[in-house]
Amino acid sequence: MARGQGTKSSRGSKIGDGGARRQTERVKTARRRKIGSTQWLQRQLNDPYVQEARKDGYRSRAAYKLSQIDEKFKLFKPGIKVVDLGAAPGGWTQIAVEKVLPEISGGKVIAFDINEILPIKGATILQGDLFDTKVPEELRHLTLGKADGVLSDMAAAATGHSKTDHLRTMALAEEALRFACDALIDGGFFVVKILQGADEPALFSCMRKSFGKVKRYKPAASRSDSKEIYIIGTQFKGS
Ligand SMILES: C[S@@+](CC[C@H](N)C(=O)[O-])C[C@H]1O[C@@H](n2cnc3c(N)ncnc32)[C@H](O)[C@@H]1O
Repeated sequence: MARGQGTKSSRGSKIGDGGARRQTERVKTARRRKIGSTQWLQRQLNDPYVQEARKDGYRSRAAYKLSQIDEKFKLFKPGIKVVDLGAAPGGWTQIAVEKVLPEISGGKVIAFDINEILPIKGATILQGDLFDTKVPEELRHLTLGKADGVLSDMAAAATGHSKTDHLRTMALAEEALRFACDALIDGGFFVVKILQGADEPALFSCMRKSFGKVKRYKPAASRSDSKEIYIIGTQFKGS
């Protein structure tokens, strides 16, 4: 669990100020390390959110994205039931647990991923592929018509070909929307990650049919050079 109370950095101060003072770390290009992985390592070492996540005890820098989304849209409160799709390694789940407080509020946070998620106190963890009909059955059983919120930060491994990456992420987003429409209670919310591209408007208009309000949002923690953006649907109209 995160050591700190809430997400300090999402409030802006530490990351903005600290980033300016920090010295840029350079990574020596090892003879057998590819240039791409050297650049990735250098970016990780110099990313203020990576450093802050390490300090605050979050498993990923992505934790700050959800925290900033919640600051903007005020989605969470103690006692609600939330499903986190594509939750590994667990940064979003940590934030959800901090806000839902399952152990004292009677709320629930269910984290689901195709990869293993190490235990997070207060969260129920399930492993499986959202496209695999058998595994989501267990998930559906736990959540059918009972979830106040569904989150999806699911992403396929990047190929580097932007159109392919866009389409693969859209397929995950559409599946997450299908899941959310079965799982949510009336008035519930859905947060989904996409990579911007040609198919985005179709998902957006699909969401507008099911949610009273639909907004796009790019949190400050989302890298500016990335096509990643989040679509937030609130006031679910019912399946
Ligand atoms: C960007 S990571 C999520 C990071 C996470 N939100 C956090 O805060 O730590 C995307 C995740 O989506 C998961 N994923 C991709 N395809 C999936 C699928 N078909 N079913 C379940 N999870 C999937 C990946 O395994 C990966 O862990």
